[in-house]
Amino acid sequence: MPLPDDPVAIVTGAARGIGRACAEELARKGFRVALADLDSSDLDAAAEAVGEIGPGAIVLRGDVSDYEEVQALAASVVARWGRIDVLVNNAGISQPKSLLEISEAEFDRTIAVNLKGHFNWCKAVAPGMVAQQGGRIVNMSSISAGTGGAPSAVSKFAYVAAKAGVQGLTRGLAKELAPHVTVNAICPGSIETSLTRALINARREAIQDTIPLGRIGTPLDIAVVVAFLATVEPNFITGEIIDVDGGQWVN
Ligand SMILES: NC(=O)c1ccc[n+]([C@@H]2O[C@H](COP(=O)([O-])OP(=O)(O)OC[C@H]3O[C@@H](n4cnc5c(N)ncnc54)[C@H](O)[C@@H]3O)[C@@H](O)[C@H]2O)c1
Repeated sequence: MPLPDDPVAIVTGAARGIGRACAEELARKGFRVALADLDSSDLDAAAEAVGEIGPGAIVLRGDVSDYEEVQALAASVVARWGRIDVLVNNAGISQPKSLLEISEAEFDRTIAVNLKGHFNWCKAVAPGMVAQQGGRIVNMSSISAGTGGAPSAVSKFAYVAAKAGVQGLTRGLAKELAPHVTVNAICPGSIETSLTRALINARREAIQDTIPLGRIGTPLDIAVVVAFLATVEPNFITGEIIDVDGGQWVN
């Protein structure tokens, strides 16, 4: 089903980085955008910028790993704007510890935010999307789910496991929620954000050398693909895992 004239998107982890760029790009495409993130002043600044670009922006303060909180936040968007057309599951945390260093609690937290957070938001928005016979979900995985992560990467096996889980969730839900709701995932390569900036600054040339397109990615590189998946008409794409990495993974 085509998008309505006044579509609504939720972007998680929208206070900064890739999520903020996604929120801005969707606003440029005419979406009212709900920006979800942990309590932070960055979130207010991002919402203000998004509100200046598009027809509306609201903030949703909460933790993606908290099931009840996510249910309530999704309900608040429907109460305010009447519908949810697009969900961008972007919130994520790094986990730099190896198996020999990581604690059980750190492993659990990595999975809770990076994988269960996607489940929580899909569970909260999918019933409405199915009922309205239209919706699009874009999940954020990582090329590290396929590579296992570089030895020098900021995130190691627990993050990689969560991001691989996101790919399975994407393929499974693409089948379950068809034919009216599409579910796809994006795998960013090395994108310069606060998550990666210290590593990139320390090894910029070496990282660039691994990328055939010859530059580090920007949040906008990811956001334009998210916006494409959110808006393309006619839409015949679901269950896809799309690398957006300047060729880093094929390299
Ligand atoms: N930057 C990269 O190179 C890269 C590569 C592959 C995948 N990714 C993925 O892209 C996504 C965005 O990454 P980024 O680089 O913009 O990171 P970032 O750290 O700049 O932004 C992540 C945002 O998520 C929010 N967040 C973290 N935990 C949360 C929680 N529990 N509940 C709600 N919000 C929470 C943070 O507050 C922050 O605003 C992540 O899922 C990340 O794993 C990034």
